[in-house]
Amino acid sequence: MTRGIRIAPSILSADLTRLGEQVALVAAGGADWLHVDVMDGRFVPNLTFGANMVAALKKLSDLPIDVHLMVLEPEHYIAPMADAGAASLTFHPEATIHVQRQLAAIRQRGMKAGLALNPATPLGRAEEVAGDLDLLLIMTVNPGFGGQSYLPASDSKIKRARALLGAHGRDAYLEVDGGITSDTIAAAHAAGADTFVAGQAVFGARDPGAQVKELRRRCGVAV
Ligand code: DX5
Ligand code: ZN
Repeated sequence: MTRGIRIAPSILSADLTRLGEQVALVAAGGADWLHVDVMDGRFVPNLTFGANMVAALKKLSDLPIDVHLMVLEPEHYIAPMADAGAASLTFHPEATIHVQRQLAAIRQRGMKAGLALNPATPLGRAEEVAGDLDLLLIMTVNPGFGGQSYLPASDSKIKRARALLGAHGRDAYLEVDGGITSDTIAAAHAAGADTFVAGQAVFGARDPGAQVKELRRRCGVAV
C-alpha cells in the first residue's frame, strides 16, 4: 500500500441546486475522486441518480468519477456508465448471479472494476474474484442513505480485507463508504483503507473544501 490516500466526496449529500459550485469547492480542496451513489429503490430503499448524473459531472470536472451501483442486475448499467464517462464501477455481489462476468465486462469497457460488501456480507464473497478486482469497497454503514454512523465492527473487516488483497497480490484500492468523518477516518485508515467516501462530513460542512483537507490531514498526510 504505497500509493497514498484518496478522498471521494459523495454527491449524494451535495446541494444539487448548486452542483457546479459544490464540485468546484471540493476540487479546490483536493478531492481525488467524485463518488456517485446510484440507487434503484429495490436493492436499497432509496432512489437517486443514473448515468445522466455522471455525464453532467464530466462536464463540470476532470476528477475521476467513482460510481457505486446499489441496484439489482448491475449488468444493465455497465455500458451506459462507460459511455457517460465513469472511471470506476462498483456493484454488490448479491445483486447479480454472475459476479466474475460483470467484473470482466466492466474492465473490458475500460473502467476499474469494484465489488462492494454490505456490513453483513462476509469478506469471503470477494475471495474467489480477488484477482479480478481493481477496487474492493467495504460498506461501513448499511447502504441507502447518507449521514449514518460508522459501524465500529468495520475496523476488523477492513483489516481482513487488506490481508485478503495482499494474499492475492492485488494492488486494488480498498475503499470505505459510510459514516466517514474527521472522527472515524483515522481508524479506517489505520485498519488499511486507502480510499474514503464522505458525503455528509464534506457537503454538510460550512467549507467543503477545507473539510476534504481536514479528512486527509486526519490520515496523517500533509496537506
Ligand atoms: C450510502 C452511500 C454512501 C453515502 C455516504 O448508501 O453508499 O456513499 O453517500 O454518506 P455519508 O458519508 O454521509 O455516510
Ligand atoms: Zn456509496
